[in-house]
Amino acid sequence: MEFKDELKEKIKISEEILNRYLPEETGHQKTIFKAMNYSLLAGGKRIRPILMMETYRMFLKEEGAYQKDLIEPFISAMEMIHTYSLVHDDLPAMDDDMYRRGKLTTHAAFGEAMGVLAGDALLNYAYETAGQAFTACGEDVTLYKRVSKAMNLLSYYAGVYGMVGGQVVDVEESGNPLSLEQLMFIYDLKTGALLKASMTIGAVLAGASEEEVKTMESIAGNVGLAFQIQDDILDVTSTTEELGKEVHSDEKNGKTTYVTLLGLDQAKEEVKILSDKAANELRALDKNDLFIQKLIDFLIHRTY
Ligand code: IPE
Ligand code: IPE
Ligand code: MG
Ligand code: MG
Ligand code: MG
Repeated sequence: MEFKDELKEKIKISEEILNRYLPEETGHQKTIFKAMNYSLLAGGKRIRPILMMETYRMFLKEEGAYQKDLIEPFISAMEMIHTYSLVHDDLPAMDDDMYRRGKLTTHAAFGEAMGVLAGDALLNYAYETAGQAFTACGEDVTLYKRVSKAMNLLSYYAGVYGMVGGQVVDVEESGNPLSLEQLMFIYDLKTGALLKASMTIGAVLAGASEEEVKTMESIAGNVGLAFQIQDDILDVTSTTEELGKEVHSDEKNGKTTYVTLLGLDQAKEEVKILSDKAANELRALDKNDLFIQKLIDFLIHRTY
């Protein structure tokens, strides 16, 4: 199968999984369910669920060892946390953007208060959902330990030492010039952290060794930096139609980005260097995982 079709298939599978964990739109608070599902189902590349699923598969000892009830709650939770980060990132108090995933942003469609609450709701619902993985453990203490570890990774990388921490510095330093070191700190946290969560959780749940988990963390870190630099490039070179979100958002908000700091050419060069690093680390694992390899390649050459 061609990579493009394979990716389409995996996006579809991720969305089917996500669909199974969505809240029903009933009850007095039904507006919040509508707002949650609006943003979750708006589309998106589903990179994090796919990376988690593929990493999980890569470390399973045998194909038949795939445990749906163990991995799929985390796959859904990951996309909920990522989506919440986007809903809040677009709020007037943050990047103040009107379009996301080809539609009006959540706050634009439901009002600002619902935008805040939809983000809060997605974050909490993510943990409720991930917690369902405990039921897959039965009497197996090893599995309990893996799910506990995965829970720790999810909350750590989403929080103040991860995505939230990166967003704090990003917002606080809007309008200010930054050093490359400060910028890389922001990228590693605001974007790298959720990729690290995706890949390390997949590895941990499959029973990978500590060293293998560390390697996945490092690969995800390099992919994360490359992914964010590419995002900055596209903010300058692409169109709202192609991206499904507003372009020139960084300029509007006076953000220092890799592009404003070092120029487009060097930004493109750095994306390549970082993804080569990630590809080499992946090859060194000797798992022969061609799909993840091609996915990394796609992420850096993407035009949306
Ligand atoms: C956007 O993430 C935010 C960044 C970290 C750059 P994605 O580019 O993965 O957004 P979706 O999920 O495809 O909409
Ligand atoms: C956002 O970075 C990273 C998040 C944690 C949401 P950006 O602000 O550049 O993401 P986009 O361009 O709005 O998707
Ligand atoms: Mg932002
Ligand atoms: Mg933004
Ligand atoms: Mg951006």
